[in-house]
Amino acid sequence: MEAVTYSTLSSQETLRDPVAFYARLREREPLTTFMLGPMKIWVIATTYEETVSLMKDPRLVKDGRSVYQEGEAPEPLQQYMQQYGETLRLLTQNMLSADPPDHTRLRSLVSKAFTPRMIEQWHPRIQQITDELLDAVQGRGQMDLVADFAAPLPMTVISEMLGIPVEERAQFRTLTQALLHDLVIPGQESQAMAAGGTFIASIRKLLVAKREQPGDDLISGLLQVEEQGDRLSEDELVSMIWLLIVAGHETTVNLLSNGALALLQHPDQIRLLQQDPGLIPAAVEELLRFTAPVVFAGGRMAREDIPFHGQVIRKGEIVYISSVAADTDPQEFSDPEMLDITRQENRHIAFGKGIHSCLGAPLARLEGQIAFSTLLRRLPNLRLGCEPESLVWNSIHNLRSLKSLPVTF
Ligand code: HEM
Repeated sequence: MEAVTYSTLSSQETLRDPVAFYARLREREPLTTFMLGPMKIWVIATTYEETVSLMKDPRLVKDGRSVYQEGEAPEPLQQYMQQYGETLRLLTQNMLSADPPDHTRLRSLVSKAFTPRMIEQWHPRIQQITDELLDAVQGRGQMDLVADFAAPLPMTVISEMLGIPVEERAQFRTLTQALLHDLVIPGQESQAMAAGGTFIASIRKLLVAKREQPGDDLISGLLQVEEQGDRLSEDELVSMIWLLIVAGHETTVNLLSNGALALLQHPDQIRLLQQDPGLIPAAVEELLRFTAPVVFAGGRMAREDIPFHGQVIRKGEIVYISSVAADTDPQEFSDPEMLDITRQENRHIAFGKGIHSCLGAPLARLEGQIAFSTLLRRLPNLRLGCEPESLVWNSIHNLRSLKSLPVTF
C-alpha cells in the first residue's frame, strides 16, 4: 500500500468507497502519518476495540494548551498560533476543544436540550419542515437532493432551536462550509480563519439583538446563564453557538445525502424499507455505520509519549482516529462491507465514544428517521439522476460530503 498523504485521504477514490479504503488501512497500516501544513498528524485506523479505548484514553486530550507550558510548543505550532491566535482562541473555547473540568461545565449547560425526550418534542416540526421541502420539489420530478433537501432540513432545525433569524441562515451555511473545508486543506488556512472571523463577528451581532429582544430559544437561554454569573463567559458563549450551528447541521447533511445515495445503490434495501417502515430506526443506524458522514472524530493531542503498534506518538503530536475503520471491523460486525438495514446489535461509533460522544445524536437520529421515511413514502420512484461515477465529493479528509446528488422521481 502506498504511503498515506493528504491527497490520498481526500481523493475522490477514497471518498467514493471509504469502507474499502479504511478496512485496507486497518489490516495493513493501522498507524501512519501525513503532513498537514507544518504539522505531523498520526492517522489511526485500527480495530473496533482499540478505537473505542483510544477515544476514551485520557492521554489524548483536546486542549493543546494543557500539553505545553508557555513558549514550549514547537516552532511551527507557535507561528500558527501567533498568526491566527485570536480567531483560533475563540473557535476553540467550546466543549469539543475542551477537557474536564471545562468540558463537563460547558457540556452540562446544553445537554438537557438534547436529551431524547426533549428532542422528541421537535418531532412534529421536523416532519413539517421535511414535508414543506418535498412540497416545493414534488411537481418538478427532479431535484438536487443535497441543495434542495439534505442541507436545508438540518440547517432549518438547528436554526430554529437556537433562534437564528431566517435571513441569517444562508450566510451561516456558507461560512460553515468555508471554515470546515478550508481549515483542513493544506495552504487554505488563512481563508478558513477569515471565514472564522466573519462567523464570530456575525454571532456577536446576533447576541446584541438577542439581548435586546430575547426569545424562547437556546441562545436566549444561554445568554441568561452568561449574564447570571461565572458559569459561561461571553467568549465561551460565542464559541458554543458556532459549534452548535456547525456540528448541528453539516454532519447531518452528510447522513441524509450519503444515506440516500447508499439506498439508491441498493434497491433491495429500499424495497425492504418500503415493505416494513418499522425498519427505519435500524436503517438509520446502518447508514450511520456504512456511509461515514464523519470519517474522523475531532483531532486529539498526545499529552505524553504513547507507544502504539511498535511506534511512539510523541507528546504534542496530533492524532486522527478513524471511526470507519472500527465500524468495518469483522470482529465486531458480520459482513461489515455490506449494507444491511436489518443488522442486529449495531454498536457503531459514528457518533464517537467517551466524553465527547455526539451531543446531538438523538436529534440526528430523529432527523434521519423522519427524512428517510418521508422521502421513500412521498417519492416511491426515487432514482439516481446521474451515473454514480460522475458524483463529486468535497476533497476533505474528515467529512464525507457530496457536492450535489441529482435524483429523479
Ligand atoms: C449524522 C449526524 C452526526 C454525526 C455523524 C456526528 C458525529 C459526531 C462525532 C463523531 C462527535 C465526536 C467528536 C470527537 O470525539 O472528537 C460529535 C460530537 C459532537 N456533536 Fe455530533 N454528529 C452528528 C450530528 C450532530 C448534531 C445534529 C448536533 C447538534 C447539536 C451535534 C453536536 C455535537 C457536539 C456539540 C459535539 C461535541 C460533544 C463534546 O465534545 O462533548 N452533532 N459528533
